[in-house]
Amino acid sequence: MCGIVGYVGFREAAGVLLEGLRRLEYRGYDSAGVAVKVNGRLEVVKKAGKLQVLAESLKERALPGTLGVGHTRWATHGAPNDPNAHPHSSEDGRLAVIHNGIIENYLPLKEGLLQRGHVFASETDSEVLAHLIEEKYQGNLYQAVRLALQEAHGAYGLVVAHQDSEEIVVARTVSPLVIGLGEGENFVASDVPALLPYTRRVIFLHDGDMAAIGKEGVRLTDLKGNPVQREVVEVDWSLEDSEKGGYPHYMLKEIYEQPWVLENTLGGRLREESATAELGLKLDPARYDKVHVIACGSAYYAGWVGKYLIEALARVPVEVEVASEYRYRDPVADQKTLAIVISQSGETIDSLEAIREAARKGAGTLGIINAKGSSITREVDDTLYIHAGPEIGVASTKAYTAMIAAMSLVAVWMGRAKGRLQDQPAAEFTAELRKLPRLVEEALEERPEIARIALKYHQASDYLFLGRHIQAPTAYEGALKLKEISYIHAEAYPAGEMKHGPIALIDEHLPVVVLTTESPLYEKTVSNIQEVRARGGRVIALATKGDSEAKKFAQDVIYVPRTHPLLAPIVSAVPLQLLAYETAVCLGRDVDQPRNLAKSVTVE
Ligand code: G6P
Repeated sequence: MCGIVGYVGFREAAGVLLEGLRRLEYRGYDSAGVAVKVNGRLEVVKKAGKLQVLAESLKERALPGTLGVGHTRWATHGAPNDPNAHPHSSEDGRLAVIHNGIIENYLPLKEGLLQRGHVFASETDSEVLAHLIEEKYQGNLYQAVRLALQEAHGAYGLVVAHQDSEEIVVARTVSPLVIGLGEGENFVASDVPALLPYTRRVIFLHDGDMAAIGKEGVRLTDLKGNPVQREVVEVDWSLEDSEKGGYPHYMLKEIYEQPWVLENTLGGRLREESATAELGLKLDPARYDKVHVIACGSAYYAGWVGKYLIEALARVPVEVEVASEYRYRDPVADQKTLAIVISQSGETIDSLEAIREAARKGAGTLGIINAKGSSITREVDDTLYIHAGPEIGVASTKAYTAMIAAMSLVAVWMGRAKGRLQDQPAAEFTAELRKLPRLVEEALEERPEIARIALKYHQASDYLFLGRHIQAPTAYEGALKLKEISYIHAEAYPAGEMKHGPIALIDEHLPVVVLTTESPLYEKTVSNIQEVRARGGRVIALATKGDSEAKKFAQDVIYVPRTHPLLAPIVSAVPLQLLAYETAVCLGRDVDQPRNLAKSVTVE
């Protein structure tokens, strides 16, 4: 949530900050600001609206300093306006604070500060930190921040600059921060893409870490001031990976990256000779007799697909739950439970807390994660990286299909270890997994037909998505994609459940997307379609190539390549992503940065 960039070195800081923030804008984009040290004074410029608004005002006001901090915001406390934008300054204007997260005791802190005569300029919780650090400051910024953090509780990725300091002081609890190491210059950011134009050598801060960042070096300590050592990691994402590469939107680029992403996720892990998956994990799958899958958003739907996969191939019961529910309901987990947390960012706070809860109960913990070195990877027993590369579009696409591919590997791994997946079906399934990159390539070829359908229905005010069995979660993910980026209300239902309520919504204005790919339940799904048609509904069927019946029962058909029925969610997700994308483009929506959302949700 929110983007942070800090810089100390020899370049013009404002340029580095703006460039970094541009790369982090997907994390929040309702206001932005910078503070730069110019001739021994901190100059702050901050604006409501997208980063471009800030960039325009910086054109009129040169900030020629080489130390600065910057922020893009996703509002939690206080409306997205100029005063609530970060950085927040102390009253004397000598220090500037940028903060991601929530200071939970900000109200009592604020009351105390008001009583001591402080005047506040914003409604944010973050501003209390500026005043508190100002009170503690006696010539040493690092000490002042450290003392302030003994009083402030909650989540923070905190970055502080002072006009009398040659260093930026940062601290992290819950909200991620990563330091970038350069030559004669150093950086800090809330996520790696901001650092990629300058360095690939990074240090991921852990909870409770502080750092003083100067141009020649970085000092790391804990909150008590004791030195700490952290590994310097070489990140392997290239700059191009985080650029649009000629596509009009990141989302479209990421949709088209899915064939190679699947290759990355699966390749090297499938052992066709033995029809198994080698995951290089320490966990022993034979030890567990139930699985809990915990995730949020699209990752949750990927987990729901994973339930069908694991239950079918390993015959182990699986419960799937959104992390924000799991963490508070005293779940029944023990040493025989394998808790799997799925997260693209590895930073979603609900997912992190939920997996901690499972670990407290003794469960083995496995992360299915994209972002290397992220918070969740440091908490779990083992991580299976999906290797999808940076996902910038706020609506998840390539990470979603890669998560399902990873769950397929986990299902094979468990099924084989438990002796419940026999050679023949294992060989068939792994051979189909191997074909996925090519099949997804084929699915992408349907884009012109999907664009035609999107145009035809883009003025609909509602959409319904239906699917059965392993395609029920696909229907939910399709509806989520559409509402996220087009703002068309979309609802999803297991097809067989439609008659228990949503059937009342059906009329000639409602497009109904039905997943009718090949499966043992094909006939039953077709009966559900007849129920829609009988009430005048307009049916868009997603059918397997070669299904000549589909055209008879649907007004529009999108064909997907044939695959193993358990892998249909992967090839079917692709056209649904394209349908959402093309619809949002027809409606002129901001595809990569839809309103109110953020890519990485580090608040509860
Ligand atoms: C946000 C994003 C979703 C994402 C969810 C979980 O809500 O907008 O696209 O699926 O967070 O994120 P994670 O990083 O844990 O996969």
